[in-house]
Amino acid sequence: MTVDFMTLAADAVAASQATKDPDFPLYHVAPPVGRLNDPNGLIRDGDTYHAFFQFSPVHPRKLVYWGHATSTDLTHWSYHAPAIAPDTRMDANGAYSGTAIAVEGGYELWYTANYKDPVTDEREATQCVVTSPDMVHFTKIADNPIIGAQPAGYTAHFRDPQVWLDPDRIGEAAGAYRMLIGVQRADLTGAALLYRSPDLREWSLEGEMTFPGTDVFDNFGYMWECPNLVRLVDEDTGEARDVLILCPQGINPDREGFENIFPCVYIVGELVGTELRGTGGQFHEVDRGFEFYAPQIYARTPAQVAAGEPALLMGWAGNASEDDLPSIGTGNWVHTLTVARSLTLRSGRLIQRPLVPGLPCAPSALSGARMSDEAVRVPELDGSRSWRLVLEVGEDSSPSWTISIGHSTKVSFLIDEGVVTVDRTNSRYPHGSRRVITLPEGASTQVEILHDRSVTEVFFGDGALALCLRSFIAPDDDGVEITARGTVVLSQVSCARLD
Ligand code: FRU
Repeated sequence: MTVDFMTLAADAVAASQATKDPDFPLYHVAPPVGRLNDPNGLIRDGDTYHAFFQFSPVHPRKLVYWGHATSTDLTHWSYHAPAIAPDTRMDANGAYSGTAIAVEGGYELWYTANYKDPVTDEREATQCVVTSPDMVHFTKIADNPIIGAQPAGYTAHFRDPQVWLDPDRIGEAAGAYRMLIGVQRADLTGAALLYRSPDLREWSLEGEMTFPGTDVFDNFGYMWECPNLVRLVDEDTGEARDVLILCPQGINPDREGFENIFPCVYIVGELVGTELRGTGGQFHEVDRGFEFYAPQIYARTPAQVAAGEPALLMGWAGNASEDDLPSIGTGNWVHTLTVARSLTLRSGRLIQRPLVPGLPCAPSALSGARMSDEAVRVPELDGSRSWRLVLEVGEDSSPSWTISIGHSTKVSFLIDEGVVTVDRTNSRYPHGSRRVITLPEGASTQVEILHDRSVTEVFFGDGALALCLRSFIAPDDDGVEITARGTVVLSQVSCARLD
């Protein structure tokens, strides 16, 4: 009997109570039923932002689709039928991650079709295309797979294509399109491959991305998942740099951070051919929170880039192998995406500012308040479980203050002498309770928090440090409290709520 995969997903969504769960977020993308992981195919089409995502509607069965959500304000999301179903032999074990690109007459979604032999467990990974004239109808093309196997010297861990029009070769007939793809070498180390194509159908391998002048990335984990490239202008120098974002599995650098099962890092350089030059062997974590992985850059056409459209990133607020969240029990759904973050660089370091235009902040009555060894609640957020808060403390304030989410089951952020301690001991979340993070120089007097029922994103120092975590306070708990040790002046406080 053949399975109608679209009906299977539609029935699971129709029967779902997920959105009634008090933990289901209001402005973060989350699965209408089942499991969500990586963001996929992020692209803007006119006024509409599309967020596709890895979607398993009948979780824990591993039937991985591309779910689909859209928004015009990156705040209020509508959910649609999945765009890709695992309904062919090639993708029977998952329509894995990939990206979208605008083409003449519509869009293409590029994804990895994952197949595992039921007897040998051997994997086959191929790169496939779905076309759409309107982002409503999606068709797997007859020519799939477009890239039928990994090249010699690599294992079948060959996935997560990013496909884009090379900004340096627009109008050239040959090789204007590029593809970046994560791979594992036969010696079980991770790498990224670059391909070129004149027409998005014939692809030739250019080679591995290399990092001249350093050997740091030669043996950097056993697999690189979800590599993404983005060109950003450094706010300090005005220079354009190429930023590689990737998830190297199995690295354990000897320094603060890297506490999650797999990290996500960025490397800044200048891409010339397949060489990412001038990196100095430096890499940094994109986000220091407990839950963050597999982010993707919103695709932009050269015209959108020229028009000043910001580079946006969205990540998965989750980790591999940590699916046992409370929401499975309360609503049969698990994980969310982050909000869109607008990216720039400052002196070679990534700056991430949340972009949630549907939730504009207004001044709080607390603005200008002087607090001495006391706790105050943000009055406008009392009763709220879905809010946003921007706070700045005056320069002569005591360096020790705390922001807590909720009354009784607090998730708190203690800022003390430039170090933040995140404490979710009282949260219902089962993985990881405390984390200590050194803030970048000068970043400890300004903070923005986006808290959305069970997911929280915190940005210190105007986006200089981001941290994302799941924060399952009690379903009837709400609001936010600020506590000062010594005297703290809240020079600017503004906020917004969605509930
Ligand atoms: C990252 C990842 C990708 C893969 C997808 C499968 O979280 O493992 O490499 O395409 O998830 O769902």
